[in-house]
Parts: sequence; structure tokens; C-alpha cells
Amino acid sequence: RKNSAGLDFSHPQTQTNLSNLLAQDPTFNRAAPMVSGQTFNTDATHLSDKHAKGVTCPANTLKSIGTVVNASPEEVDAAITAAKKAEHAWRNTSAEQRASILEDCANAIEAKRDTFMQLIVHEAGRTISDTLYEIREAVDFLRYYATLARQQFGEAQSLTSPAGESNHYRWMGRGTFACISPWNFPLAIFVGQISAALAAGNCVVAKPAEQTPLTAACAVQTMIAAGIPAEVLHLLPGAGDVGEAMVNHPHISGVAFTGSCATAKRIHQQLSARPGPILPLIAETGGLNTMLVDSSALPEQVVDDVVASAFHSAGQRCSSLRVLYLQNDTAEEIIELIKGAMARLTVGHPQYLSTDIGPVIDSIALQRLESHKNWLKNESTLLATTPISNSLPQGHYFAPMMVEIQQLNQLSEEIFGPILHVIRYNSEDLPKIIDDINNSGYGLTLGIHSRLDQFINTIVTSTHVGNTYINRNMIGATVGVNPFGGCGLSGTGPKAGSPGYLRAFGREHTRTENI
Ligand code: NAD
Ligand code: ALA
Repeated sequence: RKNSAGLDFSHPQTQTNLSNLLAQDPTFNRAAPMVSGQTFNTDATHLSDKHAKGVTCPANTLKSIGTVVNASPEEVDAAITAAKKAEHAWRNTSAEQRASILEDCANAIEAKRDTFMQLIVHEAGRTISDTLYEIREAVDFLRYYATLARQQFGEAQSLTSPAGESNHYRWMGRGTFACISPWNFPLAIFVGQISAALAAGNCVVAKPAEQTPLTAACAVQTMIAAGIPAEVLHLLPGAGDVGEAMVNHPHISGVAFTGSCATAKRIHQQLSARPGPILPLIAETGGLNTMLVDSSALPEQVVDDVVASAFHSAGQRCSSLRVLYLQNDTAEEIIELIKGAMARLTVGHPQYLSTDIGPVIDSIALQRLESHKNWLKNESTLLATTPISNSLPQGHYFAPMMVEIQQLNQLSEEIFGPILHVIRYNSEDLPKIIDDINNSGYGLTLGIHSRLDQFINTIVTSTHVGNTYINRNMIGATVGVNPFGGCGLSGTGPKAGSPGYLRAFGREHTRTENI
């Protein structure tokens, strides 16, 4: 299995094609609940329709790029009831057949790259390189989980048995999974959750984030057209209330959730309060991610990796760097280099290749960042801000900034945007730094820059995180190569894109027969 290929941006024809493609609004522009392949409210074409809402572009909020009709409680029930009916047939479809359909879905998504490029850039405000990465990741998830389905969910395994008895052991689907996803990877995470659940033999009801329904609707349509039976995969656009109704529905068999820690805890509480069986929750949440740089590190490499980790994707990755520890001896030099790099970043509309940093997702995200920025006025020293052109369209733009704080516990939760907090330290502070990182409760990504094995090994072995990146940036995990996910407040595991992921969607069965 190979990971999917990218695009060579340096080729002039590629640049022209991208520029022409992204100058246009998405051609796919309507989303509505899709239950057994039927869209109930198909009149989502007009903003005046009482059910339909406009979908706006975060990079230009004056522009509506499509419409969405959110799912009603009746549609949630209809989708889950239909999925329940289809469980038996899909669970008993061979793993080979499910895998082969998922591979067809991967090819179909790859073939629609242009459509998804337009959607993700305009709906989620993601830059061109982030968007391409994300389409490739979605395709990789489909192919990777297809491979795992063949390996782990195929024929029952015959076990050594006493005379007169046969024993067989196998993995199979649990039933119907509620898949609830965030807006920051509107295709990759949406498709990743769905494809794992389907590969393991489950039916799926999928709720994308309210900010990105168009990308999700296009993905579901593409997957159904590529061969996923319409009774097996259902789309329920909507906000938290739709997710809540799914989680509370008596016929779901598990929840796959990616999003904030607060929402994950709420879902966890709801699941435990339900009557009936104990249901699994796979929750992948946020982080208060740190990077430790000692004085042996190469400053130029540190700067590249810090800028990518903290500011790319406008800091809107769960993996993004939030707090940078710099050893005093080289801190000033590195800070000056980061300032220089920040001055050269271009904040702009993501449709242009020249844009490094696009907008944040919506006005709520922008307000949260503005309020954190206000709070920082008395709690930190401002080190640098990236300049923003005043000729940008009206959008949710936030200038990347770097501030100096004294200690990690000044921050109590994830700051989801391009704000980098720097802390200077001396080598004798290291044990306290490690305690502070562990005491934050989060455990997603951690970066280390050093040429000293002892420094690296001390940190790797004493911090509780899911992904440690050494002498590189800390974003952009690749499926099957950097299995991704955290612990503690950052998630339950297993890791997306790991050999263990699919099993969380399945159950085991042993067949013992007297012969
Ligand atoms: P969010 O928690 O606000 O929403 C996530 C999803 O949950 C959305 O679809 C939302 O509508 C739904 N939801 C909200 N309330 C609900 C409820 N009560 N019941 C059921 N569903 C509900 O998160 P977000 O703002 O969309 O995404 C950003 C967050 O996601 C960040 O915290 C980021 O770190 C995290 N994230 C984590 C990973 C990872 O792999 N660990 C990856 C990407 C994003
Ligand atoms: N998997 C994504 C990354 O590594 C979140 O950045």
C-alpha cells in the first residue's frame, strides 16, 4: 500500500490550473440530511427556504458559497433506524468486499480532487497545501483501513482445540456507529472515522461540524456513488443538538468523536447516563502542546519547525504547537529568528498559493482568540505579530503572534489559533517543566529539538503524550506512518492511522462447537 501522491506546485501549469480552479466558488453547493440515499429537504436551493441556511466562506464572509438544511429529530431517528436494519447484511458482507468498496471510494475521492479543493479552501478557509494534504489523508485512510479490514476482520481463525471440539475466533462490526467530526479537517477526519467504522463492518450515521457541511455531503455522495450501500451510510448535518440526539438514540452501538475535550466529556456523560448496554466512545480531542529546545539545537531548523507547527493552518490543528520552551543560552537568538520568519508570513485568502496563513473558522473562534489576546496584555510580553494587509476581504483573519509567559500553568486550556507562547528556561528547571507538562492533563503532541541523546531520552521517557516529534515539526501525521492521537484530556485512543484503530470499532466472537 502506497500513500497517495501530491502535486508539484513549482510547475507553472499547475499554478495556473489551481488559480483558475480556486477563483471559482465550489460547484458542489448544497447539503441536506441524506437518509438511505434520499435527501428529505431537497429544496435547499434557496436561502429564503425556511429550513435552509447559508454557508459562508471564512475568508470572505460577505460571500455565501452554498446552503445547508440541518437534520430534524425525525431524520436522526429515520437514519439510525434504517442503519440498524442494514447492520446484519453489512456485518456479513465479506471483509474483502467491504475493503474493495472502500478502495473504490478512495479512487473516487482522488478523482474528485478539484471539487474537494474548491470546497475545503472556500468552506473551511484552509490553504492550498493544507487542502491537498487533507485530500491525500482522506484517501490514505480509506486505503489503509481497507487493508486492515482484510488483515483483521476477514475469515474466522481456527484455534487449537481439544479433541471433539472446534474453536473459531473472529472480529466483526458492532452495529451502528455515530461518527461526529470537527471542521478543521472537514474531509480527512470525517472520512477517516466513517471509513474505519465501515471497514470493521458497521453501519454509520455521520454528523459533520456545522461549519463544513458541504465538504461532508460531497464525500458521502461520492462514497455512495462508489459503492457503499445507501442504507449503510447516512448523513445528518447539524449542530451539537443533532450530535446529542444521535448519542442518545437507543439503537447506536458506539460513538467516534473528534473535537474539543469539553464536548467529548459531555458525550461521555451522556453515554454513561443511557439505559442499556455500555457503549464504546473513541474520542480524539485537543492539546496544550509544547516543544522543548535546548542550546545544542540548530537554530535555523528550530525556526522553520516552530513556524510550521505554531502558525500553519492558522494554528487550527489539534497537533499545533502552543508553548515553546527555549533554553536561555540560545533563546534570544532563536526568538529574533522567529520574529524575522513571522514578518515574512503572508496572511490572506487561502485561494492564493502565496498565502501562508488563512482565516480562522468563524466569528466565535475569532472572538475567543481576541479575548485571549486581551488577557495576555497583563500576563505576557508581546514579542512579535505578523503584519496583516488592510486590503484583505472581510473575513475572520487573526494576525499570528508570539508572546513570552513565565510558566505553562498560566494557560489552563487549548488556545485554538496562531498564538505562540514562549517560556525561557535553564537546565535545572527541566524536572519542573516535565511536571508542568504532565500536570496540564493534556497529552497530544510534543516536540524536542536537541542534539543530545540524554536530553531527548529524558523527555521522551518522562512525558505522557501520544506523539513526540524529535528535530522536526510536530504537525502533519501521515496515515500508517505516524499513527496519531493522544492520552489524558487529549483522547481515549486508539490512534488514527494505526494498526490498532479498526479494532476499536469491532467486537470479538468465539465459536465453540462440539464435533
Ligand atoms: P467541537 O467539540 O465544538 O465540535 C466537534 C463536533 O461535535 C461538531 O460536529 C459539533 O457539532 C459536535 N457537537 C457539539 N456539541 C455536541 C454534543 N453535545 N453532542 C454531540 N456532538 C456535539 O470541536 P470543533 O471546534 O469542531 O473542533 C476543534 C477541536 O477539535 C479542537 O479542540 C481540536 O484540538 C480538536 N481536534 C482533535 C483532533 C485529534 O485527532 N485529536 C483532530 C482535529 C481536531
Ligand atoms: N493528524 C493531524 C496532524 O498531525 C491532526 O496535524
